Amino acid sequence: MLGRIPSGSLLPPTIRQLLGGTTSNARVQVNGWIKSVRRQKNITFAVISDGSSAKGIQAVIQNGSLAKALTNGASVRLGGTLADSPGKGQDKELRVEDVEVVGECDPAAYPIQKQALSTEYLRDNCHLRARTNTIAEMLRLRATTSDVLQHFFNSLGFCYVHTPITTSSDCEGAGETFRITPPAPSEPATEDNRPSEFFGHPAYLTVSSQLHLEALATALSRVYTLSPCFRAERSLTNRHLSEFWMLEAEWAFTQSVNDVCSVVEGAVKDVLDKTQSHAQAFANDAGRSRILEYLQTASSTPVWTRLSYSDAVTELAKYQASARRFQFEPAWGKPLQSEHERWLAEELVKGPVFVTDYPASLKPFYMRLNDDGKTVACFDLLVPHLGELVGGSLREERGDLLDKALENHQLDKTQYGWYSELRKYGGAPHGGFGLGFERLISWISGIENVRECIAMPRWAGRMLL
Ligand code: 4AD
Ligand code: MG
Repeated sequence: MLGRIPSGSLLPPTIRQLLGGTTSNARVQVNGWIKSVRRQKNITFAVISDGSSAKGIQAVIQNGSLAKALTNGASVRLGGTLADSPGKGQDKELRVEDVEVVGECDPAAYPIQKQALSTEYLRDNCHLRARTNTIAEMLRLRATTSDVLQHFFNSLGFCYVHTPITTSSDCEGAGETFRITPPAPSEPATEDNRPSEFFGHPAYLTVSSQLHLEALATALSRVYTLSPCFRAERSLTNRHLSEFWMLEAEWAFTQSVNDVCSVVEGAVKDVLDKTQSHAQAFANDAGRSRILEYLQTASSTPVWTRLSYSDAVTELAKYQASARRFQFEPAWGKPLQSEHERWLAEELVKGPVFVTDYPASLKPFYMRLNDDGKTVACFDLLVPHLGELVGGSLREERGDLLDKALENHQLDKTQYGWYSELRKYGGAPHGGFGLGFERLISWISGIENVRECIAMPRWAGRMLL
């Protein structure tokens, strides 16, 4: 029995399990895809991968007629003996006794050739790109990262909840929501059959689960989710997707931004520590070894720097006065541009930095107003090489100040009625954050663009499948 799977219908071991196990000189079956074939005199060596690990298994085929059918990309079922390998580069190999080609693949036409393929070409062949080593490793890294985060939050007593994807509110109030509408009725509109909103009012794809998490935190205290988010923003940068995943956590009875930062720091450090083997797998050139250094520094720094927005602007302005390196003038009240963010993390702090207490006018309506009446109790976590990885804050729990913030942001109060009501019935100070999952993957892996940090990326102008 494996778990509760009835015996007799066991899944055969994956290549990872075979290579990691103690089985030797045993008869095994390997299912997978051919990554490469090398013929050497009378022996054929093929690498078979089933995606379970970065390394495939080396198959050794002595029988020429069996080897003939093996081509790159074909799916095969190989039977043979798993034996210690005399060759370099692998501990074990499969001595093949029988070959079944399950799905043929014409090597001349196969779009995933062995030579380096351009990123753009692979985006065009998105349905096949998981067959490349980098994308497959990225997908395994996503899975490990999500496991680590779930374990981290579960161990702190957070409840994993599922929040809706469709919503009537724009959490960030930035007007970047995708609107959902049903197909127009085929019948001509009549008095009783007027095209109407499917839900009775406008509906959108969520930009963030935060508001729903806040509602659940007023009952379950500590909640988190990993969920898709959608933003109709046209920024075509290497950090923006139209559909991305966000890890969001929200908890009640917290009163300090510093505490929220500490939870973020703990979560990200746990991921750094537990995904090291993946990060090493990506680190194969000079640029990437610099990234490994960044990750190493981040992991070993006992407490990441906290710097207020005001101090950050002072530092930026000082540097600009002497070096004139920024395209955008840093000034209090203006947003930090990505050149500023990267300078703060890479040059000033030389590591991750929480920039806290931004001016209220630069941030969404829900952030808690500080006593100075000008700034809000929030932070952005900026990391070297990437920039913003996480955003979070204390939430405005005081009903009257929340009303005022909605007004200041020119938002329709009636749409946020339920949200304001959370303050009325047993409201409590609370806070939370959202971490961009693809950005985290990009940071750990050193993959330059978040479009390569998700299986099937979407951005303005592009949705292939
Ligand atoms: O800073 P953001 O917009 O914050 C929120 O949405 C809050 N409601 C989160 C919360 O407090 N629960 O987004 C959070 C993070 C960003 O720091 C960034 O890492 C990522 O989400 N992100 C994106 N990632 C990829 N593509 C986009 N278009 C993204 N927009 C934000
Ligand atoms: Mg942000």
